Amino acid sequence: MIVTIDGPAGAGKSSIARELARSLGFSFLDTGAMYRAITLGAIRKQIDFSDQASLILHAQASRIRWQNDQIFLDDDDVTREIRTPVVTDSIKYVANINQIRNALSQQQREIAARQDIVTEGRDQGTEVFPDAQCKLFLTASPAERAQRRHQQLAELGRPIPLEEIRATQDRRDAEDRERPQGALRPADDAVIVNSDGLNREQVVEMMLVTVRNKLDSQAKSASNNRSNA
Ligand code: C5P
Repeated sequence: MIVTIDGPAGAGKSSIARELARSLGFSFLDTGAMYRAITLGAIRKQIDFSDQASLILHAQASRIRWQNDQIFLDDDDVTREIRTPVVTDSIKYVANINQIRNALSQQQREIAARQDIVTEGRDQGTEVFPDAQCKLFLTASPAERAQRRHQQLAELGRPIPLEEIRATQDRRDAEDRERPQGALRPADDAVIVNSDGLNREQVVEMMLVTVRNKLDSQAKSASNNRSNA
């Protein structure tokens, strides 16, 4: 089964999707990490972000690989470095190029073809896996997402004013929603989960109920098909 989770930055998708996958015994795919890795590679190679042809060649030549919870770009462990602000601020140059999106979407489909998976990103339920059996869209109000991020950073000893976090978040939301291909939006058949006022365990629990219902109805229709055959 393929479970997609899409949603805006700061809604807690990664940690929730990871936890959901663990509870279900499914694999987990963080597609944002793929866009981050390609962006980091472009920064390292000092590719000019206005040079789309070089960015495409770079993406085609890059090898992304996972080992446990670590992500490797051409055999180099980039797990931490892909989360730095310089990468986050530059992803749009890579994520706005359709040829790169198509190549990464193809890799995502190949990974999902081999296993039961929870995959998270922006376009998983809409463009990459339009036929996924279970689609979730995880969101939270902009104020709550910014507040959570503010608290997270403070706990890491990196206090940043709330207004600054909110402004960056609004900019990223707009970039993600306005992208011509792979734009952030819920699929028509997605279940919307709003995590305002809920903790991680509560959100995972809600999602588990949805996924188990889908698994049950799949099992029922498979058995009906068998008895009608
Ligand atoms: O999920 P995360 O915040 O790590 O994603 C980083 C960025 O990668 C997003 O803001 C978006 O621009 C891009 N992205 C995308 N399509 C995906 C996943 C991420 O365009 N499926």
